[in-house]
Amino acid sequence: MHKNITPFKLIALLSAFLLNGFWAAAQVHDISKKYHKPTDAAVLKKLDQWQDLKFGLFMHWGTYSQWGVVESWSICPEDEGWTQRKGPYGATYNGYVKAYENLQTTFNPAKFDPDKWVKAAEHAGMKYVVFTTKHHDGFAMFDTKQSDYKITDAKTPFSTNPKANVTKEIFSAFKKKDFMIGAYFSKPDWHSKDYWWPYFPPKDRNVNYDPAKHPENWNKFKDFTYNQIQELMTGYGPVDILWLDGGWVRPKATIDTAVEWQRTIQFDQDIDMPKIVGMARKNQPGLIVVDRTVPGEFENYTTPEQEVPEKPLSYPWESCITMGNSWSYVPGDHYKSAHDIIGLLVKIVSRGGNLLMNIGPGPDGDWDPEAYKRLDAIGNWITINGEGIYNSRAVAPYGNGNVYYTKSKDKQIVYIYVLANDKTKAIPAEVNIDLPGINGVKKVTLLGAKQSLKWKKSATGITVANYATAYNKAGLLEAGCIKIEYK
Ligand code: GLC
Repeated sequence: MHKNITPFKLIALLSAFLLNGFWAAAQVHDISKKYHKPTDAAVLKKLDQWQDLKFGLFMHWGTYSQWGVVESWSICPEDEGWTQRKGPYGATYNGYVKAYENLQTTFNPAKFDPDKWVKAAEHAGMKYVVFTTKHHDGFAMFDTKQSDYKITDAKTPFSTNPKANVTKEIFSAFKKKDFMIGAYFSKPDWHSKDYWWPYFPPKDRNVNYDPAKHPENWNKFKDFTYNQIQELMTGYGPVDILWLDGGWVRPKATIDTAVEWQRTIQFDQDIDMPKIVGMARKNQPGLIVVDRTVPGEFENYTTPEQEVPEKPLSYPWESCITMGNSWSYVPGDHYKSAHDIIGLLVKIVSRGGNLLMNIGPGPDGDWDPEAYKRLDAIGNWITINGEGIYNSRAVAPYGNGNVYYTKSKDKQIVYIYVLANDKTKAIPAEVNIDLPGINGVKKVTLLGAKQSLKWKKSATGITVANYATAYNKAGLLEAGCIKIEYK
């Protein structure tokens, strides 16, 4: 199934396998390896600010949460592990889609309270949010005028709730606490009759007709997409990131045949990104656009999925990773430990990236209690150790064993995060720190500790002799952080 497996890809697949089980691994996107630096000064400024934030909240939420199944993919007629149809309607494709779309008529997330999410995310140290305004299945979690397949339509019980336009509520609740706001939007729309034209059966994730042969259908789809994005860019307050998923909707010339899933794209699916982004940036100056997996001027950062690149990348990037095993809500899902999430954050930040951590809200409109527990523990850690996370940049040697480096963006400070051993949870008695190019070390302290650190110069940097003692005395949890100020 996976031809042309490079060592990089193998590592990515293996780590996705460990994180998520085999089938999710097969969903892994290849990250773009070409980067086009934006030229718009406002975009560059926002990107730099965004790179200071490091930790964001991703949410995949839709009617599918009622069945606790994968987001959208179960209506995709491809025979992959993550597209399997389960449950009483699974036996026939058409019957299943009908029942799936009928989930609109029972969706009533009465416990929806975005302020509760903001409080938990803020405590955890998250600084931006990306929300699925519309996933591939086409169900709009906002009050679109282009379709009645939406949360605010009279068919949806939740439409009578004053908070029915959940995208608006989420964006404004998070904006009040100064989060950057990201709109996830799927370019493909499996509900639109101009994407999956009912004249033909849908064949796979792609458009089911040739847009070149039927330009009138495709033009309608282009207008529909433009109009929906325009609604999001004009009626929902400030938006900082337009996070576009569904990389198969792309001009044919941009297809990379070295990437397996891109080889299945038969037709040109040019959605006219210059026009969309022109309109979007007129309304949202400096908007960061993430046309993921389509390298070019509209992929302002790259988005490794369920993986952490082994090395720093030379351009802005963000790993999106699920807190549970799934993007969507699954009852009883297994959530990563706070220890593992902190480890991921430290590794990612040491390589210059951001962590976008996903939690899937349930059908009642709230998160699994496990998610709150994780965020609480992460917050307790970040209150002490966040100083070397935010506003930091990658610095050589980045990482060494369980020791990870970051440096302040604008001060003469290097931060060293020492992760406990994953299995034994052991803390090293002493820590050797390489400081290439740094001579004038002025002060070495342990964040959250009163006891001073004993350190001496070594051939390549410094050695901290009483690390474990100081760490234990201060009652620190998870990764400790050594702060090194220099001249
Ligand atoms: C994967 C999933 C998709 C999800 C995305 C988030 O590509 O297939 O459903 O939205 O990850 O990054």
